[in-house]
Amino acid sequence: MKKSADRATLSLREASKPVPLASVEACDHERFRSGIDEFDRVLGGGLVAGSVVLLGGAPGIGKSTLLLQVCLRLAGAIRPTGKCLYVTGEESARQVKLRASRLGEPSENLYVMAETHVTLIESAARELNPELMVIDSVQTLQLPELESAPGTVSQVRESAAYIGRLAKEMGIAVILVGHINKEGVLAGPKVLEHIVDVVLILEGDRHLVYRVLRGVKNRYGSTNEIGVFSMEADGLKEVADPSEAFLAERPSGVPGSVVVVSLEGARPLLVEVQALLASSGYATPRRTVTGVDPNRVALLLAVLEKQAGLTLGGYDAFVKVSGGLRLDEPGVDLGITLALASAFRARPVDPLVAVAGEVGLGGEVRGVARLDQRLAEAARLGFRRVIVPAGAARGAARTLHPGGEQVELVAVRTLAEAMAASMG
Ligand code: TYD
Ligand code: MG
Repeated sequence: MKKSADRATLSLREASKPVPLASVEACDHERFRSGIDEFDRVLGGGLVAGSVVLLGGAPGIGKSTLLLQVCLRLAGAIRPTGKCLYVTGEESARQVKLRASRLGEPSENLYVMAETHVTLIESAARELNPELMVIDSVQTLQLPELESAPGTVSQVRESAAYIGRLAKEMGIAVILVGHINKEGVLAGPKVLEHIVDVVLILEGDRHLVYRVLRGVKNRYGSTNEIGVFSMEADGLKEVADPSEAFLAERPSGVPGSVVVVSLEGARPLLVEVQALLASSGYATPRRTVTGVDPNRVALLLAVLEKQAGLTLGGYDAFVKVSGGLRLDEPGVDLGITLALASAFRARPVDPLVAVAGEVGLGGEVRGVARLDQRLAEAARLGFRRVIVPAGAARGAARTLHPGGEQVELVAVRTLAEAMAASMG
């Protein structure tokens, strides 16, 4: 923005000097919890004063709901002495009030402001001096001195940079909301990733109940955490036991259903993968996939055809992950492949079997990260046998059920072995 002004401040500032790293005092960032544990966990333990968080997600996924809940909780029970300012450029103060009435009792310390002009937001922040300021959304912000319209790259970037400087100067934690378009890129906010300290994405299918909050970037913690919520009539609720929730409606004895032991960030999650094959009426069979990468499914179908001899060419293939969850990790390959094989053979996989493994182009089953953690989660949920890559199985610790029985590890080298072990 004002380049000349920046340069002026630079020359006024005391010149910085190199110092020995050993002499620098390590200090923990001043954090405060919002009181919504799944949110705090993804942040790495809470919000950091003076930091800027970008919360991205598709329209209607629940970003405004989540942040209003954070404000209600923070300004209410958690930090009764601090103030929260919720700035909205998308809704009126009344609409925010209406939504809030479904979510909880607003405290005196929660302020709302329907405004899009950055300089007016700045004056309000200076007057109120809140601990947390939410800006919903960054696409509505405008700096009057820029001529372009709100939502354009330059407006979004300069407005966010301005707010970021304000956050640092005043020591306010700021959360910016950024909409993600259909293609899944942070249109506009993509340009913000390097300006902000933390990037979180709220994912899920807006027609389904579960939402996953993921850290994509975090200057104050790891991005290995996910938070799981369900969208209810009175807002987002924390899901204490996601694996149990994702498996709740699993059919038993139905071909095409396989439980995978996935690792989302640092968190092991048991999720059901379903596959269905139906005779195709098309010259090119359809592949309809939700929750995993369609290219990955195409690859696994080809491996099944070439390396396991399944003639899949005449079938439309459908693959789906339960709960509207998205699985990106290669460790779910084997589960997807077995679900397809089970559908093809019309033979169910034993419901007490869970699966983890990557599948290579030669039909070989490859190792996965953190097998012990995955096994512990499978044991906790009562699974008796876990099909795992032979390479990884050697180093795995003995995993016991809470009841004391051992989980049976079935080590496989190839897809054919995995098919034999799971379907007999
Ligand atoms: P919203 O937070 O407005 O999404 P975003 O800000 O990401 O665009 O969420 C909108 C959806 O959430 C809407 O379809 C209704 C639903 N919802 C509930 O199911 N329960 C609730 O308590 C609230 C407030 C919203
Ligand atoms: Mg919104």
